[in-house]
Amino acid sequence: MDIAVIGTGYVGLVTGAGLADFGNDVICCDIDPKKIDALNHGEIPIYEPGLDKIVSRNVGEGRLRFTTDLPEAIRRSRAIFIAVGTPPKPDGSADLRYVEDVANTIAKHMNGPKLVITKSTVPIGTGRMIERILDQSGNGHKGSIVSNPEFLREGSAIEDFQKPDRVVIGASDEDSIGLMKEIYAPLHSLEIPFVVTNVESSELIKYAANGFLATKISFINEVAVMCELLGADVQDVARGMGLDSRIGSKFLQAGPGFGGSCFPKDTSAVADIAKRYGYEFQIIEAVLRVNESIKERMVSKVIGALDGEARGKTVAILGLAFKPETDDMRDSPTIPLIKGLQKQGALIRAYDPGAMENSKKIFENITYCGDAYETAEGADALVIATEWNEFRALNLERVKKLLKQPLIVDLRNVYDPHRMKAEGFTYISVGRTEDARSREHVQ
Ligand code: UGA
Repeated sequence: MDIAVIGTGYVGLVTGAGLADFGNDVICCDIDPKKIDALNHGEIPIYEPGLDKIVSRNVGEGRLRFTTDLPEAIRRSRAIFIAVGTPPKPDGSADLRYVEDVANTIAKHMNGPKLVITKSTVPIGTGRMIERILDQSGNGHKGSIVSNPEFLREGSAIEDFQKPDRVVIGASDEDSIGLMKEIYAPLHSLEIPFVVTNVESSELIKYAANGFLATKISFINEVAVMCELLGADVQDVARGMGLDSRIGSKFLQAGPGFGGSCFPKDTSAVADIAKRYGYEFQIIEAVLRVNESIKERMVSKVIGALDGEARGKTVAILGLAFKPETDDMRDSPTIPLIKGLQKQGALIRAYDPGAMENSKKIFENITYCGDAYETAEGADALVIATEWNEFRALNLERVKKLLKQPLIVDLRNVYDPHRMKAEGFTYISVGRTEDARSREHVQ
């Protein structure tokens, strides 16, 4: 099918490349000529494992193109995916300016029936708003609205696109549902479930899914606090809970709080949507509050490890991105961590395998290093802030020699506390106490 994907950000690019790989004829559009020029020269503006290969393969085989000519892309396409940004406004609600602009452009240039699909995470009611814009175009062509939320995780987006747990389609007519099934045809043979519902339910599924995952994280982070108070081990508690198939073991990893471009934005947005309809979404409000307090707690944890005094001390931070395998610094928990430590007078050395460039736009007065060992050199404490694989197998002997004192604060629970003690480190992690049993003993 001839498809236009509007917006070549993270979601748009993965979607465009993924749909082309399914055999569709895809044109990706963006108003930013620099971005399109770079893409046309084979440069991928974001860091996502495997994306470069799938883009170049599909460009090479003639199924994927890039353009700034939005009207032409609209005219040639039967289906148009909207994948533009919906950044949060200062009050937490989603800014729909770009979605409205695209809807108006589609309305103006429609030259036949168009399937208009929202891929961006949009507040409930946005599909109907786009429908009204298309209906008012007055050019006699019908625009059908579909909500088709994405569930891509940064770092594994290609796999998530090619083998999703489910495809959600929110539409109001059989023709639209049929066309969507055609677009995603290869997923039928993999027996991927399709959830077909109305537009509003589909829009809410996205917020409810992200809200629930964020709830799991805030929940386990509070359990971790309880573990620290009671002498329990959060890894064991999470395992013991998660093996109950009604709970599930995923997203029960305690850490420094959730970040990224989705959970913070989407949880605030759903709380805001509820308020606008006169309801307080109490669980989500609590999830957000807990996340803030967990992030603050991490600053206290590091300062506590430094015997309560950060002034003049050097802290080595391993990992800056909000999670591994991405260069994304948006709402990374390392931002309040580093700024909080700097405010208390700490000097920061830092290294991240992917997010150094983006972090330079955020932090001041940081010494950036070339690898974990250079970062550790002369530091009073080493903090593992993002669980990149290369931090999971550090040469601990070497790290110990490089540090001023053998102190590691592991905010991602990468190492085993007993092993670290045996290696001669003072090791502080999240929700695990030294006398709690090691995971090795309970597996
Ligand atoms: C998230 C969802 O997982 C995707 O399904 C969704 O499509 C996406 O948002 C979106 O709405 O676009 P993403 O933000 O890429 O994906 O990252 P996650 O892997 O979900 O991690 C989010 C944050 O939660 C990270 O800061 C991560 O460190 C944290 N996290 C995750 C934990 O602290 N503990 C966990 O057990 C899992």
